[in-house]
Amino acid sequence: MSTDTHAPFDKKPETPAGSGELIRLEQVTKRFGDHTVLDHLDFSVDAGKHVTLIGPSGSGKTTILRLLMTLLKPDEGTITVAGEQLFPAPEKQVREVRKKIGMVFQQFNLFPNMTVLRNITEAPVTVLGMSKDEAEERARELLEMVGLTDHIGKHPAQLSGGQQQRVAIARALAMRPQVLLLDEVTSALDPELVAGVLDVLRDIARSTDITMLCVTHEMNFARDISDQVLMFDSGRIIEAGAPEKIFSEPEHDRTREFLSAVL
Ligand SMILES: Nc1ncnc2c1ncn2[C@@H]1O[C@H](COP(=O)(O)OP(=O)(O)OP(=O)(O)O)[C@@H](O)[C@H]1O
Ligand SMILES: [Mg+2]
Repeated sequence: MSTDTHAPFDKKPETPAGSGELIRLEQVTKRFGDHTVLDHLDFSVDAGKHVTLIGPSGSGKTTILRLLMTLLKPDEGTITVAGEQLFPAPEKQVREVRKKIGMVFQQFNLFPNMTVLRNITEAPVTVLGMSKDEAEERARELLEMVGLTDHIGKHPAQLSGGQQQRVAIARALAMRPQVLLLDEVTSALDPELVAGVLDVLRDIARSTDITMLCVTHEMNFARDISDQVLMFDSGRIIEAGAPEKIFSEPEHDRTREFLSAVL
């Protein structure tokens, strides 16, 4: 196993460390007004696994990721990450548990007034208290991994959408999250830029032990990287299983209908 403390992220160990449950949602209910979006939802994700959420628009996929990012609070239920409660929990604990989770959004959300390098080093320095030199060294390694070394001094507006999204991925990884949440990260991209971003994510899935929770309409990608696929409908998991099973022999009519519409 590598002892290189400057590695940009934790490499996949020979024997997975910390196996067991990393994320657990128990009886989570989320309402907007009188619309119940998630209804007593239970699920868990084991450390190092890659889980893809699929399902029709409005079925609650983004809501789950936003709950994990603490951008929303559940109305009922508990959320636990790495054995510590994220909800309900005191503010200080929420801030600590939140550091274990990184997210990449559909709309990149880079800081427009900062260079690529600064976009990546800002949070490690200000939130984790990392030295500027160490943060920059890690940022350079991450930029190499996402193929953007030549763009280190540019601002987001000088980059293509695909390049911006690869910076956003590097920025999320710079915080060394245990969990990476990905919400339709290629949906806003021109078609010719999608493959480059998916290749970077495949590489991360293959070479790191980061737990991934991914919402995507890219079914080939989902089939490649997922250990498990969860099919949502109206805020409930109606079917779950290995990708070969869900994509080739779905049991539920709703899953079949959904897949025939997107495949
Ligand atoms: N802030 C909000 N206020 C009110 N309703 C909301 C809010 N956010 C989401 N909703 C509603 O919650 C439901 C689930 O939304 P969510 O964004 O989780 O769906 P989704 O599965 O991610 O859909 P899509 O595939 O279109 O992204 C939808 O009916 C949506 O209109
Ligand atoms: Mg969504």
